[in-house]
Amino acid sequence: MNDAAPNAAPQTFYLKDYKPFGYEVESVKLTFQLSPNATKVHSAIRFSPKADAEDNRFFLHGEQLSLISAKIDGTPVTARLVDGGLECDVPRTSFLWEAEVEIDPAANTALEGLYMSKGMYCTQCEAEGFRKITYYPDRPDVMSTFTVRIEGDEPVMLSNGNPTGAGEGWAEWHDPWPKPAYLFALVAGDLVNHPGSFTTKSGKDVELNIWVRPGDEGKCAFGMEALKKSIKWDEDVYGLEYDLDLFNIVAVDDFNMGAMENKGLNIFNSSCVLASPETSTDANFERIEAIIAHEYFHNWTGNRITCRDWFQLCLKEGLTVFRDAQFTADMRSEPVKRIEDVIALRARQFPEDGGPLAHPPRPEEFQEINNFYTATVYEKGAEVIGMLKRLVGDDNYYKALKLYFERHDGQACTIEDWLKVFEDATGRDLSQFKLWYSQAGTPRVKVSEDYADGTYTLTFEQSTPPTPGQPEKAPRVIPMAVGLLSPNGDEVRATEVLDLTEAKQSFTFEGLASKPVPSILREFSAPVILERETTNSERAFLLAHDTDPFNRWEAGNALAKEVRVAMVLDGAAPDAAYLDALEKLVRDDEQDPAFRALVLSPPSQSDIAQTLHERGHTPDPQKIYDAAETFTQTLAQQLETSLPRLYAATTVEGPYVPDADGAGKRALNGRILSLLTRLDGGEQAARQYASADNMTQQYAALAALMKAEKGEAQSKAFFEQWQDDRLVMDKWFALQIACAAPEATAATAKELTQHPLFSMKNPNRFRAVMGALAGNHAGFHHASGAGYQLLAENLIALDSVNPQTTARMCAAFQTWKRYDSERQAQIQAELERILATSGLSRDTHEMVSRMLSA
Ligand code: BES
Ligand code: ZN
Repeated sequence: MNDAAPNAAPQTFYLKDYKPFGYEVESVKLTFQLSPNATKVHSAIRFSPKADAEDNRFFLHGEQLSLISAKIDGTPVTARLVDGGLECDVPRTSFLWEAEVEIDPAANTALEGLYMSKGMYCTQCEAEGFRKITYYPDRPDVMSTFTVRIEGDEPVMLSNGNPTGAGEGWAEWHDPWPKPAYLFALVAGDLVNHPGSFTTKSGKDVELNIWVRPGDEGKCAFGMEALKKSIKWDEDVYGLEYDLDLFNIVAVDDFNMGAMENKGLNIFNSSCVLASPETSTDANFERIEAIIAHEYFHNWTGNRITCRDWFQLCLKEGLTVFRDAQFTADMRSEPVKRIEDVIALRARQFPEDGGPLAHPPRPEEFQEINNFYTATVYEKGAEVIGMLKRLVGDDNYYKALKLYFERHDGQACTIEDWLKVFEDATGRDLSQFKLWYSQAGTPRVKVSEDYADGTYTLTFEQSTPPTPGQPEKAPRVIPMAVGLLSPNGDEVRATEVLDLTEAKQSFTFEGLASKPVPSILREFSAPVILERETTNSERAFLLAHDTDPFNRWEAGNALAKEVRVAMVLDGAAPDAAYLDALEKLVRDDEQDPAFRALVLSPPSQSDIAQTLHERGHTPDPQKIYDAAETFTQTLAQQLETSLPRLYAATTVEGPYVPDADGAGKRALNGRILSLLTRLDGGEQAARQYASADNMTQQYAALAALMKAEKGEAQSKAFFEQWQDDRLVMDKWFALQIACAAPEATAATAKELTQHPLFSMKNPNRFRAVMGALAGNHAGFHHASGAGYQLLAENLIALDSVNPQTTARMCAAFQTWKRYDSERQAQIQAELERILATSGLSRDTHEMVSRMLSA
């Protein structure tokens, strides 16, 4: 039942090879007879040959299926089983294909196809999981209506669309909207629902449900409110209405991803929907709100209009990430959301784009599509849409989107279709802009300036380093948002978007009384790396005066990086002027607490490593760690006298509400507590731990204590209190590794893999431990190599259980070329060890060989 061992020559798929399927699928009827180890799936599919088909090979995908019988128009036929599916001789007119297969959901630990999680049946079909359920043309450009009958003795049995009948031991569903198979879903088990309802703008009543395992009912209210807000927002902002009478969400514990947008039946990793003040942090609440919105928004951007093939993945994911970011900005704070997204982009996408796994937002080849649900497809895909919106302007953006929905509703589309809509709506030629979809790599933009006789000139030079398979890059369209400040801090030119189109280009500003201070790349208007000679005092000036909140934060962030880089490279002491600027900002109660918390959050150590690497230095993880420690200790001492007052002033009293305001205050309060804990021996944190009535404050206190190595008692107490709550336990596992000193990180992680609650079968738990290991920069990259070794061992062990999660976590090694030759040799040895594993999955094989070959 295992995938064939693909160590030899795995197949590569190319965008240029696209050919439509030779048959129309008119309808699909599926009958499931559920049984944990022997579920029978009967399919009845009406096919009709396309008159104009270039290729009429009748090939149906199928993997890990036992074929029991196949019929055409009621007559048994012999299908030829071939690699990855079957072929059959079929009539040249419309016919009914019927097949019966048997599958083993209980043995399915890969969590793709039909599987079981804690006794509950559950599916995950995107991208190519439907072929593990039955034989089918499992490609997104084949769309059909589905009728589903589920037979079994589960109390609740759900599928897509609307319920059409149910009785003792069976339930039937019909989804009237044609959809690709990847949006199919089935859930069956002992579930309870948290109900809700929504009346759409045209007056249709929609029944909403969040289905959970008994015991989790109390954690659904926040998700339900988020769902209603999402439905309303999509009506208000995009004019898009929901299109079924029912919208179901199901929470499942064992899930490879965050959540999945199956039509009318979204399936969520329980970590991305279940929330309560006692068990979830502010960050969890924000993420849950965003992901519920994201999956809901897919109903139009993904489901009603889907992708022609998987190379077009960013058509739905980039756009939907862009939409969910707009939603979060509207629900919470626009600048805070922007800053958070840029931090994440730099942490995840920039390293990807600058390393061996670099690929364009629309890749042109893959071996395993699951490996391309990447930061580039998602986050850079969303950035590209943000740039498009900036270039054409808001009105044109919404005009183009309206045209997109009118023109392509019900279709499976390409990036070309998407850009054509913008061209038609605006009359603009987007052929150069399209390079953003085909070129990999993060452009560098070098800025120089000149001032004479009242005229200020900014000159931009763009270039993009080579990436695998793309040695040369053409200049792209880069929307560069720029404002100018006078030396006294007034804004003398409001934000203007300069469209860079050439390798080198200058822009002039006339009539300036004195040389201005430029504020460049406001709102982070393009995903590029800006290179500009500037001074720390100019950065401090922008931190104090810029009218663009993003660039105010950016100035502080750049300053923080410079200070740390200087500490690492020259052993410099923390810059006193910077410490003063920080102190001033932290004490300035006029400033948004969330913003102050962000400015107070140090750049990540991995970010410093990346910056050093970009500047041609070899990062030393231990030195970066030491600099971070010294800096934070010095900052704590500098703020010593004001910390108790700041702590008190930012403490949020009263019942916990997970709103943006409260979250911002708690974030600042948490930063202050962590500084305070370095000075008071943990007294305040211990008090906060003891009195906290919500997870945000309990966790912040525990983290501060553990970081200071003063949290042993609280960590024990935390375990005792929460050992039966799997989501909180994930935090407990991760935190111990995140807080470990570099030399103790691997050992701590290793010990936790021996813990009775550790499991290879639950992706959340595996990620809690191995993700925390990879995320502890100095610990993972400790010179002993123990971190690399531990991760490799665990990835090898996980691969035969769950290839998809293994392959994703391999990316922890993608930055390996940044480091010194000893570390590179250690990582290379681990990567080679993984690659030599017999029976290695296609997923992991592809990731590791890409990392090794670049
Ligand atoms: N369609 C994806 C889920 C998915 C990803 C299925 C990969 C199969 C393979 C879903 O819409 C999604 O993008 N989920 C994200 C979260 C989102 C907020 C970006 C996820 O699961 O991480
Ligand atoms: Zn998505």
